[in-house]
Amino acid sequence: MSEPQPILDPLSLAAIFLVVTIDEGGEAQVRDLLADMPGLRRSVGFRLPGRDLTCVTSIGSSAWDRLFSGPRPAELHEFPGYVGAVHEAPATPGDLLFHIKAQTQDGCFELAMVIGDRLAGAGKIIDQTVGFRYFEQRDLLGFVDGTENPEGKEAVASALIGDEDPDFRDGSYVIVQKYTHPLDEWRALSTEEQERVIGRTKLDDFELSDAEKPANSHVAVNTIEEADGTERKILRANMPFGSVKDGEFGTYYVAYAATPSVTELMLQRMFVGTEEAAYDRILDFSVAVTGTSFFTPANDFFDELPPPPEQASTAAGESPESSGVETTGMSAPFETGHGSLGIGTLKRSR
Ligand code: HEM
Repeated sequence: MSEPQPILDPLSLAAIFLVVTIDEGGEAQVRDLLADMPGLRRSVGFRLPGRDLTCVTSIGSSAWDRLFSGPRPAELHEFPGYVGAVHEAPATPGDLLFHIKAQTQDGCFELAMVIGDRLAGAGKIIDQTVGFRYFEQRDLLGFVDGTENPEGKEAVASALIGDEDPDFRDGSYVIVQKYTHPLDEWRALSTEEQERVIGRTKLDDFELSDAEKPANSHVAVNTIEEADGTERKILRANMPFGSVKDGEFGTYYVAYAATPSVTELMLQRMFVGTEEAAYDRILDFSVAVTGTSFFTPANDFFDELPPPPEQASTAAGESPESSGVETTGMSAPFETGHGSLGIGTLKRSR
């Protein structure tokens, strides 16, 4: 039975997000790293009892085809990007996303270093964002962020793939975007005006009534109902980030969903508008600087990765067993020769 990666866990206090591109020819080494990720996480995490170190590893659309053959997640595609009359959401590169989480930064940083070492010569970390949990789960705009996330069965249904794509059951689609906030402009608004931008009260985090909540408020734009009144939800795990020295104050937006179409519809509404609103007013105070989509496979995917594309073409008609690849307890030729510790090989001998 498959089991999801730890995306349903409660929000962590610390996180590091690594967005990686894979070098031409680096695919085999990256496959090795992916196969070793569960073991690497255990090696670092076991030494930090009570810190709940986890890592959710996700793969981008073009990287998928470079790394694997066989079935593909049905809705995996590149982040489309959005251009509205006033605001834009750029699509930026990214082949892999490592969402490292824990109660403290030490384990996140250690695991990030291990990943960096294992990527050397095969890929580049093009963005590292250190996220932190701000007091009372607030974002740097000062509002509590995450309240209306789905819980329990609703979280499972919103975030995880079910029968609709049986090969990828318990997987998820994740979209990340980095936003920066021009805090001086934001602070120039009264608290009441800020509340009308978000659609909730600032101090005690209650939703404004329908009469008080403008159509272009963040909450109004992101509340999507089907014809039968069912709400379409996503599972957000946003983290504040920033540098006081550089005057950078940001939100790392991260949302997991059973289908990317829900998150994409929200983005479409935020940037391009709805029938009632030209755009989400939060964007007047939040500038999207990155945007990338990935697929988050279930845990067991890493125990036995699909064959690489080369193997699929050269070993046509040959079963993985008869080709001796990935089932023998020995690393296949494409997975060796780069000085890896071969932890994945140990793992496969379990
Ligand atoms: C600048 C980045 C963002 C910030 C600071 C931010 C902040 C917030 C805050 C404070 C809330 C209200 C409390 C809550 O329910 O969490 C909220 C709600 C929400 N946000 Fe965002 N958000 C950001 C970007 C986005 C994006 C890009 C999306 C979707 C593509 C999104 C989707 C939602 C949804 C679905 C809700 C819940 C609406 C409801 O059901 O009440 N947010 N956000």
